[in-house]
Amino acid sequence: MFNSLSKAIHFLRSNGNTTALVYDDMLGEKGLAQDLKTHIPSVNMGFWKDIDIISPDKIHTANQAMFRLVSEAARFSEHDEKVLDVGCGFATNMKYCLDNHKISKMIGLNISPFQTDWGNKFLFNEGLAHRAEVVLGSATDMPFENKSICRMISIEAAFILIPGSFLKEAIRVLKPGGILSMADLIICKPRNWWQRFFVKSIMKTLYVPSQNVYDYEEYVAMMHRCGLEILHIESMSKEVTSPFKKWFWKRPISVIMGYNFLWSVAGLGFMFAKLDYLRVVACKR
Ligand SMILES: C[S@@+](CC[C@H](N)C(=O)[O-])C[C@H]1O[C@@H](n2cnc3c(N)ncnc32)[C@H](O)[C@@H]1O
Repeated sequence: MFNSLSKAIHFLRSNGNTTALVYDDMLGEKGLAQDLKTHIPSVNMGFWKDIDIISPDKIHTANQAMFRLVSEAARFSEHDEKVLDVGCGFATNMKYCLDNHKISKMIGLNISPFQTDWGNKFLFNEGLAHRAEVVLGSATDMPFENKSICRMISIEAAFILIPGSFLKEAIRVLKPGGILSMADLIICKPRNWWQRFFVKSIMKTLYVPSQNVYDYEEYVAMMHRCGLEILHIESMSKEVTSPFKKWFWKRPISVIMGYNFLWSVAGLGFMFAKLDYLRVVACKR
């Protein structure tokens, strides 16, 4: 308890890179959950479409289904020299992509030093270090040359960033004809005072910028404006956010409240704020 509180105070007073601190310390080594057998952490809400029974241990199956959906939409080919996963978490999606697609070189980008180290060790232990690497850096200032990336994937990272800055960088580093395949959470505009309260709790605890609160239509308009050609866009809230909320409450209360203090507050925000979830496939012309 004291540890959680002192971390909370540390975050609130921090003038440094708060997003990195949040993802280093709040998710820690567990992520949202940890697979009991493999101890692999999970950090996305999962795609639950074909999962009949929602139970605490099914989050990893749902994560893999999300990786499959987003990676298949990226249309990888064996000629892709450089594939990038933006906000790559613990490199678990990178492993999925390398195991299931003929990718010669995959790079992960992550702002969290802890997850970057964890991801690189994980790739090494899985025998994938010769094909993949996680690089420390920000999606809004990517450490890559112009037109150097063939395919870009991003799962549940863009909502934390100012989307315009991320998309501008995505366009800069993608090669002409390059594809961005993305799954992104949308924190919708609050309709009443209690939704407003929970939206604020997400924004404060996870440092989500205030301009990232919008509805589906606004998000689509922003994607159009940024200059990427949209090949596919759909809302997946029925297959993602609704079942994820059920999964959240199926876990024992000790687990729900077992994260550190701020992450528990953010978790409750996700439960009660109005959310949507988008899948987008876009192309740089
Ligand atoms: C919700 S997690 C999703 C992780 C991963 N894509 C997955 O699905 O397992 C968001 C990730 O974005 C990373 N992140 C947050 N801000 C970032 C930034 N500015 N640049 C790069 N990564 C960032 C976090 O460290 C975290 O790994």
